[in-house]
Amino acid sequence: MRVQVGIIGGGPSGLLLSQLLHLKGISSVVLEKHSRDYVLGRIRAGVLEHGFCKLMREAGVGARMDAEGEVHEGIFIADGEEMHRVDLQGLSGESVMVYGQTELTRDLYNAMGERVIHGVENVQPQGLLGDPFITYTLNGAAARIDCDFIIGADGFHGVSRQAILNITEHGRTYPFGWLGVLSETPPVSPELIYSKSTRGFALCSLRSQVLSRYYIQVPLSDSAEDWPDEKFWAELKRRLPVAVADRLVTGPSIEKSIAPLRSFVAEPMQHGRLFLAGDAAHIVPPTGAKGLNAAASDIYYLYHALAAYYAGDEAGLAGYSDRALARVWKAQRFSWWMTSLLHRFPEQSSFEQQLQDTDLDYLFSSECAMKSLAENYVGLPY
Ligand code: APR
Ligand code: PHB
Repeated sequence: MRVQVGIIGGGPSGLLLSQLLHLKGISSVVLEKHSRDYVLGRIRAGVLEHGFCKLMREAGVGARMDAEGEVHEGIFIADGEEMHRVDLQGLSGESVMVYGQTELTRDLYNAMGERVIHGVENVQPQGLLGDPFITYTLNGAAARIDCDFIIGADGFHGVSRQAILNITEHGRTYPFGWLGVLSETPPVSPELIYSKSTRGFALCSLRSQVLSRYYIQVPLSDSAEDWPDEKFWAELKRRLPVAVADRLVTGPSIEKSIAPLRSFVAEPMQHGRLFLAGDAAHIVPPTGAKGLNAAASDIYYLYHALAAYYAGDEAGLAGYSDRALARVWKAQRFSWWMTSLLHRFPEQSSFEQQLQDTDLDYLFSSECAMKSLAENYVGLPY
């Protein structure tokens, strides 16, 4: 098989890029190791920056997002009993869209048809400095795709990053994880609530008016089995303002999992004719809702650079890594800051504790600080 762009990874990054290129008449194929149902079974992000929404519409897959997603013009931040609304729309002129990653991935799959090959194994990007090709096996049979470019959109545990020579990796881990619960209950609040409490962080989010998503910070040593539903709901209530806890509607969890938090960036994001995008190149703690949205700007830059290349201009591809990383690092900074602001760090000194409390006190007392949070949360320009 020969296509212009071979894409490794059928998550949001790979699918969105393939669909955008397709509409430009640029041929691609997506190699995904798991089945479509397996990919759709992952419960991931839920908040889309306005730039992501524009890309979905440009890709011709934004209709259900606009029909079923919820436009959110604000979020709440609570510190104990004190709760403040961040007026995203008023402070930044933009809003965010609450629409599950599962749903937008489904919308992309429905548009992609046969351009996704599921169940691939032994994927290897090759010929990166010459004539690129990808080898893989499918149902035990060897296969190969010849292409002009290879996109590594295969996530943090993918193979593509290993093909980047002279790579530099930056990162940190956090001394806690997030226990997430999905429940078919009405959300406790019409807008998201990020809550800092002496017992640890909690987040009240949603997927729709009948599907709620909640998180609490837990020690890394915990497992989901340590948290039966009753224990989870009781702890969540302890970490919310009383008025919010009192109106929390609990119910059986339909999904429960613990995710560790990490910050990670790999530089550069390209080597020869291989380009990394999304989680393959960078990971953020979920506090700032930037994981999926940082992938979106990579896709935006790659989409325009590849379209320009096939129109005779190679500059975009040559400058991709530097351009993508400039925005990735801003998402890293914001995600690290939101995480540092709202979580309880067991080992921090009294000075660090005081700084954390002052950071939140400054945020609540300064429109400039709130404006800075708002412009980062809705998404900095591409
Ligand atoms: N061969 C083929 N496919 C692979 C390989 C491989 N060797 N390794 C991984 N994959 C697939 C995974 O099965 C996954 O479906 O690549 C896809 C990568 O998708 P994601 O991990 O979702 O990464 P990305 O598309 O960049 O989207 C980032 O997804 O994980 C969330 O929080 C993250 O919201 C962010 C978003
Ligand atoms: C979610 O709904 O899963 C979600 C929302 C906001 C975040 C993180 C996760 O910051």
